[in-house]
Amino acid sequence: MSSTTITIRTARLSDAVAIEEISSRYATQGYMLKRAPENIIENIRNFFVAERNGSVIGSCAISFFTLHLAEIRTLAVVDSFKRQGVGSMLVRKAEEVLYEEGVKTAFVLTLSPDFFNSLGYHQVEKEMFPQKIWRDCTNCPKLMACDEIAMIKELEGRTVGGLQ
Ligand SMILES: CC(C)(COP(=O)(O)OP(=O)(O)OC[C@H]1O[C@@H](n2cnc3c(N)ncnc32)[C@H](O)[C@@H]1OP(=O)(O)O)[C@@H](O)C(=O)NCCC(=O)NCCS
Repeated sequence: MSSTTITIRTARLSDAVAIEEISSRYATQGYMLKRAPENIIENIRNFFVAERNGSVIGSCAISFFTLHLAEIRTLAVVDSFKRQGVGSMLVRKAEEVLYEEGVKTAFVLTLSPDFFNSLGYHQVEKEMFPQKIWRDCTNCPKLMACDEIAMIKELEGRTVGGLQ
């Protein structure tokens, strides 16, 4: 493995601190909901990380809502590694795992629609996801002024392995 190889893998418990550090910075800027350390630890098996030279440089999580619907969330790439394909690799890994689980539709709530557009997501009405609203949005400080864009991607038919 070359020293600059970026590996995408399922998170381990020892990654929880790094995930919290990366994601809380963006949560403070309003890009995502803040996730408490104990919440990350509790859900650590649903996280993926991008690792380079032993350091975590990005992360994302999956969250199942129904047998066929899941969210990709808490996606964050360290500033100095943006625009190098890391975010795309994390999302593709998440999609691959969702697809293997039988999930047909992945959704995101995001302030970065151009990024998700580049990965084949398209905008829909937030009201399509009452489950999400009940689970998370009611606790969100932005509830009444939500500026996030809901986007979906149908996973059926995509090629497992990240090739589109
Ligand atoms: C969104 C984010 C995860 C993208 O990660 P990344 O590693 O920089 O993304 P990639 O390098 O894989 O980008 C792939 C493509 O997405 C698009 N894209 C990515 N960032 C973009 C931006 N800021 N503006 C416009 N297009 C963008 C481009 O088409 C890009 O391809 P290109 O670099 O060849 O032009 C990263 O910017 C980030 O951590 N943002 C803050 C947190 C956030 O918004 N998370 C999403 C919450 S759901």
